[in-house]
Amino acid sequence: MIGRTLRNGLSAAVLAAMMVAPASAQTRRDPLAPTGRWSANTAGRAATPPMGWNSWNAFYSDVDEEKVMASAKIIADSGLQAAGYRSINIDDGWWLRRRQPDGRMVIRADKFPSARTGRDGETTFRPLTDRLHSMGFRAGIYSDIGRNSCGQIYTPNFANQPEGTIAEREVGLYGHVDQDIRLYFAEWGFDAIKVDGCGVRGLGADSDHVKKGDYRQFDPLIDMNAIGRTDIARVRGLYQEVADALKRHNPDGDYMYSVCLWGSSNVRAWAKDVGNISRTSDDITSNWARMLTNFDTTLTRALYAHPGSWNDPDMLFVGQGDFDKDHMTEARSHFALWAITNAPLLIGYDLRKATREQLALFGNKGLIALNQDAGGHQAVPAYLSDDVQVLVKTLANGEKAVALFNRGLAPMKAVLTAEHLKMRADRPVALIDLWGGKARSFTGETSFEIAPRETLVFTAKGTRSLEAGMYLSEVPGDVNPAEDGVVVPKADPTIHHSVIPWVGTKGRGEHPQYAGWGGAQADRSPFLTPLRVAGTRIDTGLGVLANSRLEVQGRGASRFAATVGVDDAASDRTRAVVFEVYGDGRLLKRSAPVRAGQAAVPIEAELGGARIVELVARAAGRGPAGEALPVVWGEARLLR
Ligand code: GLA
Repeated sequence: MIGRTLRNGLSAAVLAAMMVAPASAQTRRDPLAPTGRWSANTAGRAATPPMGWNSWNAFYSDVDEEKVMASAKIIADSGLQAAGYRSINIDDGWWLRRRQPDGRMVIRADKFPSARTGRDGETTFRPLTDRLHSMGFRAGIYSDIGRNSCGQIYTPNFANQPEGTIAEREVGLYGHVDQDIRLYFAEWGFDAIKVDGCGVRGLGADSDHVKKGDYRQFDPLIDMNAIGRTDIARVRGLYQEVADALKRHNPDGDYMYSVCLWGSSNVRAWAKDVGNISRTSDDITSNWARMLTNFDTTLTRALYAHPGSWNDPDMLFVGQGDFDKDHMTEARSHFALWAITNAPLLIGYDLRKATREQLALFGNKGLIALNQDAGGHQAVPAYLSDDVQVLVKTLANGEKAVALFNRGLAPMKAVLTAEHLKMRADRPVALIDLWGGKARSFTGETSFEIAPRETLVFTAKGTRSLEAGMYLSEVPGDVNPAEDGVVVPKADPTIHHSVIPWVGTKGRGEHPQYAGWGGAQADRSPFLTPLRVAGTRIDTGLGVLANSRLEVQGRGASRFAATVGVDDAASDRTRAVVFEVYGDGRLLKRSAPVRAGQAAVPIEAELGGARIVELVARAAGRGPAGEALPVVWGEARLLR
């Protein structure tokens, strides 16, 4: 059903909407029709990326109250809490069983002694969350969208497995969403939840667990290796159910919802509308190459992250393995890359072992300020290679931050240009080094020696090339690809393929997850080529597939302007595209139809105070073999 519909040319997002919508709504909804609304999630509390601590990378499932409280205390005493680390989150390993017949979850009280109530079979996390709250923290818990958890299905030799009968060991949310969310938030007082997806992935009829009778069969909704065998709409529906329950049981709206689907299920297209953070890749480990894999899955997704819904390349591994106290260059790079791309800063380290230098890294005020900047703009790659990368982030005050990252094992020379920063080359640019506070300045360009695996990070102040406004590619947090035109989600071929440490080189290697390729991009085409129309390079702009609708925050601008056309990356040379600009749902401008090979045409619109500007690119009919058609909103800008 899904495969056929996708081939018929409906995007996954439309399909998802249709499959959960009643029949009457199906005929009404045109995904390209303007709504005058900002549809990316703003519910919950994640106006800036969440910061805190999580037990998983530090202890895996061997977690207990003492370990959790020890790190919490160090975060409070060391000043890290004041620096922004506010959430203390328990991951897998806390549960004992689901009590029968009422289904109430029971905590592993031998590991969390304060959970004992003295009443037979009854436990509560309230004393623990009260303690965390009284210390000024928020508290997070963990569950799974299916009946069983990741630890049960994939790591059965782990500590603290749920116990009892098959039904008692069904600790996941499936069939218990309202009951569990009420218990965790209204009764136990948690403020955050991470919801994993293993229970709807690993318990098909062919699973050893099912054959042995360990767990009930659950026909998989997710196939990590085949998007056509993934029921995107149902997966989204289940995660939406949790989002709705969170709203019901947190009337003050004070909660954080972490979607953990590892980039599968075309989650890029929809988790931004459902949760507060969304995992873009499988698990990170303390291995350098693995960190690169995880980083790469968010690097080109800047337009999919906004205040309230962030890309999550997984928790920090600073402190261990390739990022331990003897590898501070690597640790600094890992932290800086997470900071500048607006990743959640969740420490995954037993802080009892932390050195002064490690605590100072977690507490780096300049980097935290980048991460927590109110503008919410994830860094955009200004220069990409497998050796050196230059990432530029626009700050709320209009200044920039830039990271120069040496991924490899040889020292590299890197030139930073004013153009990378979208600043004038004939005026000085002032840099402040966030690793030491040293100031320097340059005009035009400057060069650096970057040590192996080192990341240089600066704030940059200069004269903007566009003085009277903002290019949209500078402010990805203000642009939401509500409909990104992706018809058939495809794996991103540009992600660093690391050896999965827990598998080694057995099998054929990891397949990068779907929907990296073809997504909306800042300053590049959806296929990461430079933006180009009819042979003319366009340095700044948005690249997106046709049949897309971008929502843009108006921010009081008076005028929108761009030059639009079909990107030279298009292999379909026949179809015409019409570009439309809407203000608060009203059509302001429509272009004449343009085709591949035709020069870009200007489009301008007076916004009349519109709060939401929508940019729609429509292609006539379907391309041969359903081919995607990349288009360019060149120099798309909001002018004062
Ligand atoms: C999955 C998640 C991890 C962690 C484990 C717990 O692998 O991706 O982050 O929560 O489950 O078992």
